[in-house]
Amino acid sequence: MRIFLDTANIEHIRHAAKLGIISGVTTNPSLVAREKSVDFKAAVLEICALPLEHVSVEALSLDAQGMIEEARHISSWAPNITVKIPVSEAGLEAISVISREKIKTNFTLCFSANQALLGAIVGATYVSPFVGRLDDISHQGMQVVEDAVEIFKKYDLHTQVIAASIRHPLHVIAAAKVGAHIATVPYNVLMQMIRHPLTDIGIARFADDWREVMKK
Ligand code: E4P
Repeated sequence: MRIFLDTANIEHIRHAAKLGIISGVTTNPSLVAREKSVDFKAAVLEICALPLEHVSVEALSLDAQGMIEEARHISSWAPNITVKIPVSEAGLEAISVISREKIKTNFTLCFSANQALLGAIVGATYVSPFVGRLDDISHQGMQVVEDAVEIFKKYDLHTQVIAASIRHPLHVIAAAKVGAHIATVPYNVLMQMIRHPLTDIGIARFADDWREVMKK
């Protein structure tokens, strides 16, 4: 299983990339809006220059032709760009065209296994079930991830499942257990995954004990 970082914050991306624990980044318009950068393309290119295999960038058109043109344009910026296309009739039509052109796509805002299956049928590279947003409305978000993984395996569909809208470290464990190929996690969740109070206590105790050894 691989971990992507769900942010457009370049400092957070640089830090996580330096630790060697992420292989990609997913952005969306809301995440970009949180950052100060005014030059969207420059911000994307700064992320793409890092050693990351995957950078998801969202297409904003609502009609199929607009999505297709946008996807061709955005994907020409850097080889590691994947174009995010939202679930819709237009999105399905657009992916069925651009997947034949080998443009990588992330079928986003996916809230059901049916939507995930349709994304795989038209050739999406990734589908992104939004786990947290489903949990927020009292649905079992992780069930969509589990169902999509099972269906893709059964029919040998090559689309990968990204567990998205992750809210806490337990979501990451659950995603790993149901076989998600990737979890895209916010920076604070990534940091929570690293830390454990017993690790901190253990490191401090070893350091103290070693100081005693050195005094002898
Ligand atoms: C995924 O690609 C999305 O950017 C993201 O996971 C959305 O999560 P949210 O529900 O926290 O906005």
